[in-house]
Amino acid sequence: MSGTAIRILHLGDLHLDEFTSGQFGDRKDPQFPGMLADAVAPPEHERVARKISRLLTEGSISGILLSGDLTSRGDLAKYEEAVSYVIDLLRLSTEDQERFHVVPGNHDVNRKLCNADPKDEAALLSKFAPLEAAWSSLPAVMAPREVRSTHLDSADGVKAQVGLHSVNSCVGCGEHRMYPPEIQDAVRAAGGESSVFGEQMDSPAILERHLSELAERIDTAPKVHVVLAHHPLLPQAAPRFDVYTELVNGGHARTVLSARRHPVLYCHGHIHDDPVEIIRTGRPNQGPLVCISAPEMKKGFNVIEIAFSDDLFPLGCIVHEHRLTTGGAVERTRFQVVPFAADRADAFSDPATARRTLELLREAAGPFERFLVLKRRLAKADIQLTDDELEATLVELFWAGLASIEPFPHEQEPKYWKLRCLIP
Ligand SMILES: [Fe+2]
Ligand SMILES: [Fe+2]
Repeated sequence: MSGTAIRILHLGDLHLDEFTSGQFGDRKDPQFPGMLADAVAPPEHERVARKISRLLTEGSISGILLSGDLTSRGDLAKYEEAVSYVIDLLRLSTEDQERFHVVPGNHDVNRKLCNADPKDEAALLSKFAPLEAAWSSLPAVMAPREVRSTHLDSADGVKAQVGLHSVNSCVGCGEHRMYPPEIQDAVRAAGGESSVFGEQMDSPAILERHLSELAERIDTAPKVHVVLAHHPLLPQAAPRFDVYTELVNGGHARTVLSARRHPVLYCHGHIHDDPVEIIRTGRPNQGPLVCISAPEMKKGFNVIEIAFSDDLFPLGCIVHEHRLTTGGAVERTRFQVVPFAADRADAFSDPATARRTLELLREAAGPFERFLVLKRRLAKADIQLTDDELEATLVELFWAGLASIEPFPHEQEPKYWKLRCLIP
């Protein structure tokens, strides 16, 4: 395969109790021995966990993202149990801290710890202290007060690099919306005993200073960035009748992140659905912003592959969806290809490459065993490109939307590529 790639495992909402309670099989007889049934038809979570384990053993995964909601009711003991489960599942050690990021989810926040009327940012963020403490064996991986930034290198030793950032989108979760003064007075007059005259909200938000820091860090090297958060930037697809459950400043966050001069992959969970949504400003040298949602973990997970050219120019990403199928296997059921190029010329490593590539292709011919379709179409006899050079060129043409390659993506070296020229 030409160029290189960085692969990231993206895990969505764990909700540990729901995850581990799922069974598999049509268990009509409630008296059938449970242990035997589990041994014959392992429960769903074991199937998902086994697949994750296998992927990690293969060694091609550079980074691991966990987008929050490890538990369901803000119960700290459960959260700690979930942390142990995740550390075991992913076999995490202190050496993995750079490549592993986790953020809080709204269901992880203990509502009793929310200050009814926080006076400063420290008070607002104090509710996250127990979550940070739960990760004390890997103290760097959760940083709810700051934007946490590390970077990932490709597993094959090539110098491709991705900036990795995590940001807390749950700052407003559990905060109070106070009743108007006249209602508070009326409640008091009626002998109301509540010390808090308001209602708790599930109002996601990202601190403005976090967004500014993110923008600044993304505009510096490397050339492609991944941001992890819990909440989506765009409203979910299904109509939702609820108040203050979308990011209060989601529109602003979207504007800031889509206007960066490098591609940004915004990875989130929360909606228990798995859309891939692309936002482009239409301006040259900006974006795109690719919003990628991981499903609830009991349904599977995503592997995000970021492709680079031979000279380490980021070409695009492929979202591989690994899902639990009705037959009980966890398989790659679908993949989505997202080129980073806003227009065709942008897809090449340098401005002259597009023209040069087409000229080379016109002149190229010869015994390209792996490119039989192309060979038939190219009449001239002189060989101008080695097979490796031709492969690199074709991959860039693919990401530029100028050629289609089947099969693509190709994990193993295929004997033949079926090529189609899309140049108008
Ligand atoms: Fe959730
Ligand atoms: Fe959530």
